[in-house]
Amino acid sequence: MKPKREMIRCMFSEIAPRYDLLNRLLTLGSDRAWQRQACALIKAPPGAVVLDVGGGTGDTAWAWLQEHPDTGRLVVADFAEPMLRIARRKLADQKMVSLVCCDALELPGCAGCFDVVMAGFAVRNFSDLDAGLQEMARLTRPGGQVLILEMCGNRAVWLAELFRRYGVPLVGWVLTGHRHAYNYLAESTQQFATPEQLKIALERAGFRNITWRHLTWRIATAVWGTKP
Ligand SMILES: C[S@@+](CC[C@H](N)C(=O)[O-])C[C@H]1O[C@@H](n2cnc3c(N)ncnc32)[C@H](O)[C@@H]1O
Repeated sequence: MKPKREMIRCMFSEIAPRYDLLNRLLTLGSDRAWQRQACALIKAPPGAVVLDVGGGTGDTAWAWLQEHPDTGRLVVADFAEPMLRIARRKLADQKMVSLVCCDALELPGCAGCFDVVMAGFAVRNFSDLDAGLQEMARLTRPGGQVLILEMCGNRAVWLAELFRRYGVPLVGWVLTGHRHAYNYLAESTQQFATPEQLKIALERAGFRNITWRHLTWRIATAVWGTKP
């Protein structure tokens, strides 16, 4: 059996061509609104240098730029090259964006070189959550901010919960043929940390003033904080 890291990298590489379409369908278009709402929670200085960890096809980065058009530099990091290929096309006009193919658990870059480090629907996939959050903390400058958007282990309203359990694997399987991938995506959201647990993990990594906000029936949660 492949280690989790390799399993996740292969899975996202395989589903990359249909990833955006499935996201739009499975969330009825809410994913883009969640990304924008989450990015709007952060007050970034003009010219901010921002890192999007597990940036995938670039949707969180795109949302960030809608909310913060005066961003100085935005680095999108992901270890699945086929996901980044789509991000490259999507963000081609944004000259301040650069894409890096790398593992979130061993990010390149000097300590404290980013004003904001964010991750949209990515941290629950890390093979080692603490190691990933520590890397995010290492790259955040003192006084900088962290933003995580996730489907946490909190229970959504029953209809959304039912769809998450049974609808997501079924629709994902029918439209992509990747049954295992969408089983995983549904299960990983149920098994992931609650916002309270994520807060504790972020504090362990060195962040403080952690706050969260539930979005649309508690389906998604934005968690943010600062590095002292
Ligand atoms: C669910 S997608 C989210 C993509 C994007 N942030 C968004 O909001 O649409 C998760 C992404 O995290 C990436 N990822 C997961 N674990 C990673 C790791 N250890 N290093 C780098 N990228 C990782 C996957 O390749 C995938 O592109």
